[in-house]
Amino acid sequence: MNSTTEPTRPDRIGVLFVCLGNICRSPLAEGIFIHLARERGLLDRFDIDSCGTGAWHVGHDADSRSIRVAAKYAITLAHEARQLEPHSDFARFHLLLPMDRSNMRGVLAAGSRYAVNPGRVRLMRSFDPTHLATAEIPEVPDPYEGADDGFERVFHMLHRACGGLLDRLSTPNGLDSIVNH
Ligand code: 4NP
Repeated sequence: MNSTTEPTRPDRIGVLFVCLGNICRSPLAEGIFIHLARERGLLDRFDIDSCGTGAWHVGHDADSRSIRVAAKYAITLAHEARQLEPHSDFARFHLLLPMDRSNMRGVLAAGSRYAVNPGRVRLMRSFDPTHLATAEIPEVPDPYEGADDGFERVFHMLHRACGGLLDRLSTPNGLDSIVNH
């Protein structure tokens, strides 16, 4: 959503949501996280953006189905899709949150060229409190080819995970506890 030329904000926790196209899942995650952070009076603690590992939709709005499901819950998505920019994004964002394992592999491969601590790259649903600690971390499935109800399900997964992420980041040493464990 923000320009990639945005300067690094050392006073804020940088959070970057990542999917494949940056039109369905990650813009929704970004909008939900902004909404929840604002509700909690924490918005100015964060530098928040989203991107895709792929380039097909660069410059596009969010998918109309993401815009619709967000609007249903009073969230506006003001979005322009962009691709991951490894050099500037690893400098700017403390945490990178891919939606699925394929996105995660892409981000980690890009990060390995910059010797990035892989602890900064976490699957989005690591923060979904409904996933059992003992089970494999579930993915946020790609809803692009599916029916509209896929977007509703993705919305609720993202809402839970964004809430859980905010809970963690609101605790003392919250970022450190995520990145270094
Ligand atoms: P997203 O969904 O990664 O959640 O934005 C997709 C959007 C577009 C495509 C794939 C996934 N695509 O292949 O064009």
